[in-house]
Amino acid sequence: MKVSIIGQGYVGLTIAVFAGEHHTVVGFDNNQIIVDALNSGKSHIEGIKSANLSQLITSGKYVATINATDIADSDVIVIAVPTPLTRDRKPDLTFVEAACKVIGENIKTPALIINESTSFPGTVRNLIKPMIEKYSGNSVEHLYAVSPERVDPGRSDWDQKNTPRLYAGLTPDASKAVREFYSTFCDNLVEVSSPEVAESAKLFENTFRQVNIALVNEFAQITHALGISVYETLDAAATKPYGFMKFMPSAGVGGHCIPVDPSYLAHTAAAVGVPATFIERANEVNLEMAKYVVDRVKADNGGTLNGKKAQVVGVAYKPNVADVRETPAEPVIEELKKAGAIVTWSDDLVSTWMGQGSTPLGGADIVVVVTLHAVTDAKKVLASAPYVFDATGKVTGAQSL
Ligand SMILES: NC(=O)c1ccc[n+]([C@@H]2O[C@H](COP(=O)([O-])OP(=O)(O)OC[C@H]3O[C@@H](n4cnc5c(N)ncnc54)[C@H](O)[C@@H]3O)[C@@H](O)[C@H]2O)c1
Repeated sequence: MKVSIIGQGYVGLTIAVFAGEHHTVVGFDNNQIIVDALNSGKSHIEGIKSANLSQLITSGKYVATINATDIADSDVIVIAVPTPLTRDRKPDLTFVEAACKVIGENIKTPALIINESTSFPGTVRNLIKPMIEKYSGNSVEHLYAVSPERVDPGRSDWDQKNTPRLYAGLTPDASKAVREFYSTFCDNLVEVSSPEVAESAKLFENTFRQVNIALVNEFAQITHALGISVYETLDAAATKPYGFMKFMPSAGVGGHCIPVDPSYLAHTAAAVGVPATFIERANEVNLEMAKYVVDRVKADNGGTLNGKKAQVVGVAYKPNVADVRETPAEPVIEELKKAGAIVTWSDDLVSTWMGQGSTPLGGADIVVVVTLHAVTDAKKVLASAPYVFDATGKVTGAQSL
């Protein structure tokens, strides 16, 4: 089959490489730099090896393009574009709408259209289908389906092949077609009764994480006030063999999913007149962690950071990836600056961020560890400054949550 994937980021490129083993894949992206790099065989995504990409290109199974007409005559189209929040934290579907325009204007033969971008229930039925029909002038009848993506960048034990994949078509024919497509490269397919169930399940998965992370972040503040270790207490709770799942405290949540997806669910809740109090409060608790961390640092350093040199270690939103989207390092840096500190940052995987370069460890009065990559030596971090506050629980000997 000819498979076109709209968006060649974390999700789209990952699908492209797995699907490329069995189909001919066109990776459409509106970023020329990404397209050029991909066509020269360079992957920009952790977990996707450049060698695999080069092999697919050489065998004619993959090409990246910025030219929308290249997706014509596709049998399958996968939408994998960003679904961020607007400034007022509402769903921003402008990228999905732009993808629908490209599909509507360029796909003139019946195709299977699958949405993998995370969005609220009803997106495929009430937004994607009507929009593609509008842009195609209702000239062609496609099959529509959703299969929310669960990729965890940087993870090797769970991938496209073995991670159970939810799916649902708008019609039985669409469900059958989407199953046939994914069964070529996924071992575990789970059909649900409607796209709305699949869309809601995806949002709930990430809301579950967001709420539990907020709970443990609040708990860390309680244990600190009690003068006991949150880590020892969590380890103790985790000895219960059932009914408990361990989440770790941190300086906040980051990435494209946990800080974003729950707000899509809250949007739906508001639309149907149900309060989403857990989601709203969890969001607040996680966002407040940056201030809590800096307040602790301040308290340990005589109540002021005025003129102190502070270095934030790890600005990626999680270990072992270079992804800085929604990183909690940003509010931590803001809070440190508000407290009067002169702030630099160091990250072994991120070379530049917000117009600044990573600085080598050392020379600071205060170090705040937000993310610790496996390649970063915790002992060196501890030795790099007279005061080290660790929000990861991995730097033995440092002050911690
Ligand atoms: N990254 C993850 O871990 C993850 C996991 C599960 C689900 N998701 C969801 O998958 C979707 C994509 O996320 P991502 O992390 O792959 O994003 P990304 O930012 O890594 O990649 C998106 C790509 O789409 C391109 N793009 C944007 N608008 C376009 C358009 N109109 N036409 C063509 N290309 C366009 C961008 O240039 C970019 O390369 C989002 O809805 C996200 O919530 C992401």
